[in-house]
Amino acid sequence: MLAISKRYSRLIIYCVVVVSIILLGVRYQPLSSIGFLGTEDQYVADELNDNVEIVWSKEEIVGLLAANRIDMDSKIDAMKLDLNKLLITNVGLKDCSHIATKFEHCYVKAHSKLPIDALKEQKLEVTVGKDIKGSFGFNWYGHSEYLFYDVVTLDSLLQIKIDKIYVLTSITEAKETGDKLVSYLLHDLNFNFEEISLKHLFQQSSESHVISDLNVLFGRDCKDPRDGWNLYKEKPLSQDFRYPSYLSYKKIPILNQTEDNLESNKKLYFTKGAFKIIQLADLHMGVGENECVDEYPTTESCHADPKTFDFINKVLDIEEPDLVVFTGDQIMGDRSVQDSESTLLKVVEPVIKRKIPWAMVWGNHDDEGSLSRWELSELASTLPYSLFQFSPFDTKDNSFGVGNYIHQVYNKSDPTDVLMTFYFLDSHKYSKAGKIYPGYDWIKEDQWAYIKNVYENDLYKNIPTDKPHVSMAFFHIPLPEYLNIASKKHPGERNQIVGNFKEGVTAPKYNSGGLEVLNQLGVEVTSCGHDHCNDYCLKDDTESNPVWLCFGGGAGEGGYAGYGGTERRIRTYEINPYNGNIYTWKRLNGSPDKSFDYQQL
Ligand SMILES: *[C@@H]1O[C@H](CO)[C@@H](O)[C@H](O)[C@H]1NC(C)=O
Ligand SMILES: *[C@@H]1O[C@H](CO)[C@@H](O)[C@H](O)[C@H]1NC(C)=O
Repeated sequence: MLAISKRYSRLIIYCVVVVSIILLGVRYQPLSSIGFLGTEDQYVADELNDNVEIVWSKEEIVGLLAANRIDMDSKIDAMKLDLNKLLITNVGLKDCSHIATKFEHCYVKAHSKLPIDALKEQKLEVTVGKDIKGSFGFNWYGHSEYLFYDVVTLDSLLQIKIDKIYVLTSITEAKETGDKLVSYLLHDLNFNFEEISLKHLFQQSSESHVISDLNVLFGRDCKDPRDGWNLYKEKPLSQDFRYPSYLSYKKIPILNQTEDNLESNKKLYFTKGAFKIIQLADLHMGVGENECVDEYPTTESCHADPKTFDFINKVLDIEEPDLVVFTGDQIMGDRSVQDSESTLLKVVEPVIKRKIPWAMVWGNHDDEGSLSRWELSELASTLPYSLFQFSPFDTKDNSFGVGNYIHQVYNKSDPTDVLMTFYFLDSHKYSKAGKIYPGYDWIKEDQWAYIKNVYENDLYKNIPTDKPHVSMAFFHIPLPEYLNIASKKHPGERNQIVGNFKEGVTAPKYNSGGLEVLNQLGVEVTSCGHDHCNDYCLKDDTESNPVWLCFGGGAGEGGYAGYGGTERRIRTYEINPYNGNIYTWKRLNGSPDKSFDYQQL
């Protein structure tokens, strides 16, 4: 008996702890439960922001303003007033107890007592679903904490005819004082609310900006390249926990800007010279500076992500590409458990900063952090200069993959002239038919059929036949044909190969017939990632036309390397649309000024 109770004593203690935590949660009388993944509320806000937009007629806008006795500057076009814009009327923290990632009970730390009774019906509470303490997702049980804020639309303020309101106008390290100012200290930052009159807000409308959204990002090297977002880097919100957290806020003008170039950013143009593509493969970045894996050659102190960024920045400056393609595993999921958004935003920052259009496909690690493939895709598709798209068949269960899309390059001097076609495909993760085909998954027959269909019904008729047209495909996991060292057409001979073949190719064991489809679509080159230490281009002759099968070569210090020491590398493609020639070369982290393995494909 005694022996048994000893054996079970750990279990009993665990049960007691679990029950106490549940009771503790109940005692707090949770005002709201943030639910099991925490991110839901954030998406409600995004939807409120982006989708559920009411369209106002000019009469309605002028009528609403008149009912509030607001005369707008007659020079300002009322139609540019976006009454769906949000103002932040309160902020606070939710203190929670969690058991694994299954139960979480929260109570609201109501720091603020702003006079908002009149807004009860109108305001929406938004929780930023990211645990500032870094316990959720890491510990079996413990305390987690979330930032929340209340938002109201400009329209609802006009509807209830409110004169004055406290709204969030700044975030500072030192406390601000003033007549019409209320400051709240949350951890180490002051959130300053200023009393403004609606009249003032609208009458100054050409200059008026409002803070309309808040977010928390983690790690000293975090970045926020999104339109209108400002990352407060002077001081962390809090630095006592797993990673320092930083506050980011979206500040937007209440009048819509006249020029909106976002649409043209979604198209690729050829201007002059040659069209250059940089492939960034397997960056393996995480929240914070991240740990170096298999650094080669070794240095005294290695910080993985800063070292990778240094390399990327140098190569982008040398090559000045027209397009950057991230071919998967840019995010190391298990090092992004606290917040995959922080990782994704910093990954794309160097490219957005340089205003370079970029495409992205997912690998097998990207969605192993706080965001699913679908959530990552929603984020990626909205970022500046992003070409990321969902296909009509992409679903949340990932059966078709997420992010299967096609982009064409148009001639800037004649936009009906289509010069190049690029296919981007999701190659999934691990085989779901492990007993028959162990190892990695593959691009499904349905996905190949989809791009073939788009080509035959849509693309084909616009591709000129009287001049060269270059087509390429990008995905993460190699095709089975990447193993074809031996020629099919000329038994006993070897296919042409340039670059390193250092590790076993982790192509799927099943062949879904992709190369045949790609050949039918006129694709001459495919480029993938996944095998960090293979960086070759192989001229496969299985199909009627040869297809060059290339690896990007691992670029990230946070991913494995090894195999006798492998320095990180980045591949460039250069396409000459006048004669259809494609050239490629690579650069090494330690000597980015020198290119190597230059070849014509
Ligand atoms: C203002 O811009 C947003 C985003 O670009 C758009 O959705 C909205 O319809 C615009 N509103 C007006 C009134 O033009
Ligand atoms: C782009 O269009 C211009 C004008 O029609 C033409 O002169 C030029 O050759 C085209 N560029 C390419 C790469 O075909």
